Amino acid sequence: TSTEPADYRPAYHYAPAKNWVNDPNGLVYLDGEYHLFYQYNPYGDTWGHMSWGHAVSQDLKTWEELPVALKEYSNADSTETMIFSGCVVVDSLNTSGFFAPGFRKGMVAIYTSHVYKGEEGLAQHQSLAYSADKGRTWTYYGKNPVLDIGMKDFRDPNVFRYEDKWKMVVAKPHEYSVQIYESTDLKEWKLLSEFGKMGDMAKIWECPSLFKVPVEDTLPEKWVMMISSAAEDTAFTGMQYFVGDFDGKKFTPQKQKEVFRVDLGKDFYAAIPFHNLPPTQPQPIMMGWVNNWAYANKIPTEGFRGMFSLPRALSLYQQDGVYRLRQRPIFKDKLPVRTLTMKASDLAAGVIMKLDGNSYRVDLTVELAEAKDFEIKLLDNETETSLLSYEIATGKMTFDRTKSGKVAFHEKFSSVESMTVMPQNGELKLAIFVDNSVIEIYANDGMAVLTDLVYPTKSKGVVVIGEQRKVE
Ligand code: FRU
Repeated sequence: TSTEPADYRPAYHYAPAKNWVNDPNGLVYLDGEYHLFYQYNPYGDTWGHMSWGHAVSQDLKTWEELPVALKEYSNADSTETMIFSGCVVVDSLNTSGFFAPGFRKGMVAIYTSHVYKGEEGLAQHQSLAYSADKGRTWTYYGKNPVLDIGMKDFRDPNVFRYEDKWKMVVAKPHEYSVQIYESTDLKEWKLLSEFGKMGDMAKIWECPSLFKVPVEDTLPEKWVMMISSAAEDTAFTGMQYFVGDFDGKKFTPQKQKEVFRVDLGKDFYAAIPFHNLPPTQPQPIMMGWVNNWAYANKIPTEGFRGMFSLPRALSLYQQDGVYRLRQRPIFKDKLPVRTLTMKASDLAAGVIMKLDGNSYRVDLTVELAEAKDFEIKLLDNETETSLLSYEIATGKMTFDRTKSGKVAFHEKFSSVESMTVMPQNGELKLAIFVDNSVIEIYANDGMAVLTDLVYPTKSKGVVVIGEQRKVE
């Protein structure tokens, strides 16, 4: 009995009914609704015809898919404009003049207009569209683009309010840099500064965002700059972040000795934060695309390709004199769940759990005193397993999907990831979210996160936890 692609559809992660998706775009809250726009191909299950799909949610847990919001369009010279990544702001003061006087609920999308000009090559610039009906219907601004610096790679604007102005971060991918602009009306933009040429520069920079994040247990907030970096010819695709200060013009990062990764798995990309969250929600919330450009077009889910991560609430904690990101997932309360606390003797005895299907949560606390290295087998059967293991002496956590099921659809897919997770008060805490073809692992209350896709062909809800047994 082999597993059909339908069985890979997540039960509590959002994926549209059919076709291709990549980056989340225009994450914004307005009037009781969270909006998720996203890179979408309305015509097929591989990348192309990029448009913005649209879904809404009242609680960030259940999503309703709405009609395509922004469609690619043809230009007078018969070139096509694709709608690449960007953001949505609520222009409550009608600074853009797009709305009726006094109307406070206008949405403006700032996206990259991507034009393919045949032999002449590419053009990427930033453009606007607006909506007076909460994102259901949109009008493209007649004088697009609003920001064109004549570059063929210049994309993914993210705009936020700062005092009485709009600020934009936008990527120059091949220069590993982010430009910061300012505007009063979203139409005219003035360059303020440029940040970059540091951190991980092995891959191009895309999808920047800059936002305030509260520091736990202290009042001041810090600014976080997140960047996505991808290249098909490198094994690692992922996101990095910098923590620092922003004075309205310039972002200054703290001194970091190493690159800070947002997620240590292979399948978390292009995440951006929600804009316009209500004051009752002081922590920023972000969502990412669960996939990897290296094999995204080949994953064995014909009919629908791509999904989004659980929304994650963000805060900063201090460790060894630097600030780091903590991510806490937001998820349905009614998920099948197993909660366990295990000590050395429990690990030695081992436990086999049978859950009802492949969509569930496991909350595990391991008391490490006297414990031996242990492992957790997810989506397990005689021949397949998604294997999470932990080495106590070093704090090394490894996730191995080489025997997880279908791996041969692309040579880059079969992989082993690892991250260091030091115990907290002698314990290791894991919140593991399994949802048919995606696994998100939150270690020590979101101090480290790992997201990976897997395609088991036979498993039905079996989880095995116990001491590591090395098979010769
Ligand atoms: C990132 C990205 C963006 C671009 C979009 C196109 O995944 O390459 O830089 O705007 O995808 O679909």
